[in-house]
Amino acid sequence: MINEKYRENGTDIDETARQRSFISLAGALTEQKSRALGRPLTYCLTTFGCQMNEKQSEAVAGIMDEIGYHRQENEEADVVIYNTCTVRENANLKVYGRLGHLHSLKDQNPDMKIILFGCMMQEAHVVEKIKKSYPFVNLVFGTHNIFKFAELFYEMLLSDMQIIDIWEGTDQIVEDLPTERNYTFKSGVNIMFGCNNFCSYCIVPYVRGRERSREPEAIVREVERLVSDGVSEVMLLGQNVNSYGKTLKEPMTFARLLKMLEPVEGLKRIRFMTSHPKDLSDELIETMAESRKICHHLHLPLQSGSSRILKEMNRRYDKEKYLSLVEKIRKAIPDISLTTDIIVGFPGETEEDFEETLDVVEKAGYDTAFTFLYSKRTGTPAAKMENQVPEEVAKERFNRLLALVQKKGRERSSRFTGTVQEVLVEEESKEKGIFTGRTQYNLLVHFPADESLLGKYVKVRLDECRGFYYLGTRV
Ligand code: 5AD
Ligand code: SF4
Repeated sequence: MINEKYRENGTDIDETARQRSFISLAGALTEQKSRALGRPLTYCLTTFGCQMNEKQSEAVAGIMDEIGYHRQENEEADVVIYNTCTVRENANLKVYGRLGHLHSLKDQNPDMKIILFGCMMQEAHVVEKIKKSYPFVNLVFGTHNIFKFAELFYEMLLSDMQIIDIWEGTDQIVEDLPTERNYTFKSGVNIMFGCNNFCSYCIVPYVRGRERSREPEAIVREVERLVSDGVSEVMLLGQNVNSYGKTLKEPMTFARLLKMLEPVEGLKRIRFMTSHPKDLSDELIETMAESRKICHHLHLPLQSGSSRILKEMNRRYDKEKYLSLVEKIRKAIPDISLTTDIIVGFPGETEEDFEETLDVVEKAGYDTAFTFLYSKRTGTPAAKMENQVPEEVAKERFNRLLALVQKKGRERSSRFTGTVQEVLVEEESKEKGIFTGRTQYNLLVHFPADESLLGKYVKVRLDECRGFYYLGTRV
């Protein structure tokens, strides 16, 4: 464990050096083994869940690369790693399902190592199940000690035992560890960890712990470094970015952080996720409207349109407040693209409550909405609520909501037909010679291009709207 004297503003400088020494130690073992086998050692890393998990997987991949492992897509690898999610039950089921398959692979290659980490591992019943039913898993850790990955990995290489290291929480933020990047030209940047909101259905505050913000200077430094490395678009990540900075020694607002990032030369686009409607300030709306870099896209989870259900969800806004917030945003930023998350079948949801949700979808004008069937998470207040909605009722509502969301989304997205938009070219689509990119509104566009344009900004005319994406041509 870390000595208190190393700590400065919750940031551990010496811990970084410590972890780097474990990278070297593991690297030496890896080189030895690779030489003995006459081939490079390989790993396969799969990420479930949100963009925070994607970002943390990049950190783990960065360390694996540095240790000397080669990444591959298939699971017949020397090390298989899952970064898990537990926000809904089906994310858990997927992991258990795949562990069965890994067991048979490990029978063929007993040297194979299996590592599980992330949100699901913060739940005591999951760890119990792994100990009991999946003893062939080599290493299990959670969300609070990912920075210790190199050390845990090294320990695992030296041990025959199942290693489990789960922390209850942490105030530690370790900066400057190596990291891989999925794209060379865009990157997620964590600005805060954890969540203090305790929405009654949500497991995140229990598995990710209390809200902690990174120091603004560390964020600016990371963004500057990314930009000098070729990145031009950043996505600032947090469970509730609108409360960024509240827990800092010198408190500051999210809008101020955005203002600190605006002058970074070479940075073209700033995105962020996720905004909680209760904390979205006028200062932020103003900052977005004035900025030349902040994309005009806002993900603003609604969860439910019924004020009664919102109260039960502990969301701390009601239908009217949400709709007036949308109106205020649209007034200040008329071309804003709004997206949202909606849960169907929260305990006690009646047909009338559900119709309130449909009503907000009619009125708010979302470009896209992510719709979820309520999933009961053990340990949350909602799991104990009576009146759990029968599955058939929830599914029927879900289908009606989805149909409306798709219809409205198509109408909304097609507003750009015939316009020319600046698009960041991101990757080649499944069809050769056709590339995909995104407008600032986060709309996907497919158009003929070539590899030399990857990571560049090009002007594309949006010819035909295909629902959630456009077909276009470069102009
Ligand atoms: N059941 C269904 N959806 C959930 N979400 C969070 N918890 C649950 C749950 N228990 C959804 C919310 C959140 C998104 C990331 O996942 O809509 O915004
Ligand atoms: Fe979960 Fe609510 Fe926190 Fe989002 S704001 S992570 S839904 S508790």
